[in-house]
Amino acid sequence: MSAQFPVARPRRLRRTPALRRLAAETRLAPADLVLPMFVKEGIGEPAPIASMPGVVQHTRDSLRKAAHEAVDAGVGGLILFGIPAVKDAVGSGADDPEGIVQTAVRDLKADLGDAAVVMTDLCLDEFTDHGHCGILTERGEIDNDATLERYASIARAQAAAGVDVVAPSGMMDGQVAAIRAALDDSGHPELPVLAYSAKYASAFYGPFRDAAECAPVFGDRSTHQQDPANSDESLREVFLDLEEGADMVMVKPAGPYLDVVRRVRDAVDVPVVAYQVSGEYAMIEAAAGKGWIDRERAIDESLIAIRRAGADIVLTYWATEAATRLTR
Ligand code: PBG
Repeated sequence: MSAQFPVARPRRLRRTPALRRLAAETRLAPADLVLPMFVKEGIGEPAPIASMPGVVQHTRDSLRKAAHEAVDAGVGGLILFGIPAVKDAVGSGADDPEGIVQTAVRDLKADLGDAAVVMTDLCLDEFTDHGHCGILTERGEIDNDATLERYASIARAQAAAGVDVVAPSGMMDGQVAAIRAALDDSGHPELPVLAYSAKYASAFYGPFRDAAECAPVFGDRSTHQQDPANSDESLREVFLDLEEGADMVMVKPAGPYLDVVRRVRDAVDVPVVAYQVSGEYAMIEAAAGKGWIDRERAIDESLIAIRRAGADIVLTYWATEAATRLTR
């Protein structure tokens, strides 16, 4: 009789929480998570970001406190975004030794030592008055090669401040090579580069542009960021960055591009990083705020899905919360 029933019974391994945990194919650990943090020059109180409930623009002090909390929760790294008090056409605040990012790096390295990896986003859009990721020509187009010189200078400034990893996010052609050369020539051959290699021109960055106050005042980023229709192109970008000296590569956003994460993971032998961006965060928070989804389950599912797709490291605004949940 019983022969007419299925012999293989996958449900056997789903019967108890302990069995499911033992049989799980993918695990997420606090050390896999990196917390993106915003720090703003010259503010007296942390400033909430309306489109990212629970995320703030930090003061220098609140940044230190939040960084301690993240490290205590076991988070593997932090990545800093700075918002300067003054912006100009060339983004002078970005490579100023006293600029907000350099100051914050010195604060965090003094506080935390090597307890967590301190990374910096390396770009110009937070620092330019026009909100673009580079220097503009008279016609208002981004001048790729003039921008590379700026990126090289920012890399030197961030390295001098003591950062552990620089993460160029501007998607300029040749940016990794320019930054690698700048680091090597300034006595930082040991400093790794995490390249935002496959970075899409995405609507999911919307809330970030409020947080980092970097929405372009005209035009958009589709001449340098990737077209969401493409995935072969991601591999081309990844291989170029590796040839130029990238030590880790990133896919961004994460959730809508899990296929790209998997393709990159299968194609390379360096750590693959995925960035769960501001819009992915905002969507879950908003739906949960309305009572339409179970917030914690949705967060945890979104993160394990990114790991399952092949990301070794996940950047997420929920890093501290998720790490706390993982260890309790
Ligand atoms: C550029 C940068 C952006 C993000 C990270 N680095 C914005 C952009 O390209 O417009 C977006 C991150 C997010 O949405 O969470 N410096």
